[in-house]
Amino acid sequence: MTQQTKSTMSNQMGMAGSKQINSLQDLFVDQLRDLYSAEDQILQALPKMAQAANASELKKAFQTHLEQSRTHKQRLDRIFTDLGITSGGQHCEAMEGLIKEGEEALQLQGDPVVKDAALIAAGQRVEHYEMAGYGTVRTFADHLGFDKVEDLLQQTLDEEGEADKLLTSIAEGGIFKTGINEKANKNQR
Ligand SMILES: [Fe+2]
Ligand SMILES: [Fe+2]
Repeated sequence: MTQQTKSTMSNQMGMAGSKQINSLQDLFVDQLRDLYSAEDQILQALPKMAQAANASELKKAFQTHLEQSRTHKQRLDRIFTDLGITSGGQHCEAMEGLIKEGEEALQLQGDPVVKDAALIAAGQRVEHYEMAGYGTVRTFADHLGFDKVEDLLQQTLDEEGEADKLLTSIAEGGIFKTGINEKANKNQR
């Protein structure tokens, strides 16, 4: 079989998980749908994160971000409408994995302060994934000349960044000072 025949066949049959992407716009749409699926999954997970959090400021941070995530999904809906395309057809496997790991934090028994640390760790992994995703589509929108769409994506990217920074400030701002470290020191003595 010649190389050309082989590649023709694989194009027709589709390699496992492969898809046809012919332009930056195709890739842009594909990645927007991936983010749409990610936001959907996050909307299911955040109420559980808020419920599991011990510190009131962490609870509030997850609740606030739940509201923001609803807006993120609405912005994507608006973008799909503006571009005249559908939102569905993608399942974000990466977010499924991140949320599965987050479930482990939800199930943790024992010191509630340590559990908060695990919830923050899980939450920040989700935010960083979203920041990478929105940063990419924002840049694609810029290249494609979709100025209004770029602006909407930038707003979401900014909110993901703020959510991440808030989690860092909660972690560094004292909720662990009288919890984890003190206990760890006592255990070492
Ligand atoms: Fe989001
Ligand atoms: Fe987020």
